[in-house]
Amino acid sequence: MITAPPERSTLGFDQDLFKRALDFAAWAHGDQTVPGSGFPYVVHVTKVAMEVIAATEGDPRPERNLAVACALLHDTVEDCRPEARSEVRSRLKAEFGVAVAAGVEALSKDHRLPKAAAMADSLVRLKAQPAAVRLVKLADRITNLERPPPDWTPDKRRAYREEARLILRELTGSSPPLEHRLRQKIEAYSEHC
Ligand code: NI
Repeated sequence: MITAPPERSTLGFDQDLFKRALDFAAWAHGDQTVPGSGFPYVVHVTKVAMEVIAATEGDPRPERNLAVACALLHDTVEDCRPEARSEVRSRLKAEFGVAVAAGVEALSKDHRLPKAAAMADSLVRLKAQPAAVRLVKLADRITNLERPPPDWTPDKRRAYREEARLILRELTGSSPPLEHRLRQKIEAYSEHC
């Protein structure tokens, strides 16, 4: 007897989507590196995806795949090679669909706004997104609360910690495990402040 393969929605984790999104991120970021470490930029987005995967383990809902795709793609608009930005936007929609493209857009700061206003604006847009997208912002900040670059002044470090607290406050209710982990990271970051 031949058994039909299970429907995609019952498979849970979509490995092929993960691979496509990681390849896309590698293309969009090109030679960019992670500030501080100098590692290829995909190292950052893979860490963010890992946080999302760990926090949603065992969750059978298809939204988990939306969250993982948005994690891998979250910086492709904001931090891509500038000459690739408009192509990134149209390919995101064509290759990953409207939900992923809208999620990535909400996770992108508008560079035309002053820094503090850009974060507030992104948070407002994120709050209109499903929890699967909002939690990517928590995972991103968890990943970024590593040892700060040595040239950051104490003021800049404290401002970064304050911004992390704002993200946590504004996005509470998106993912209890990631909120818990972000709270721990904020506390640990205080040693650098
Ligand atoms: Ni990021």
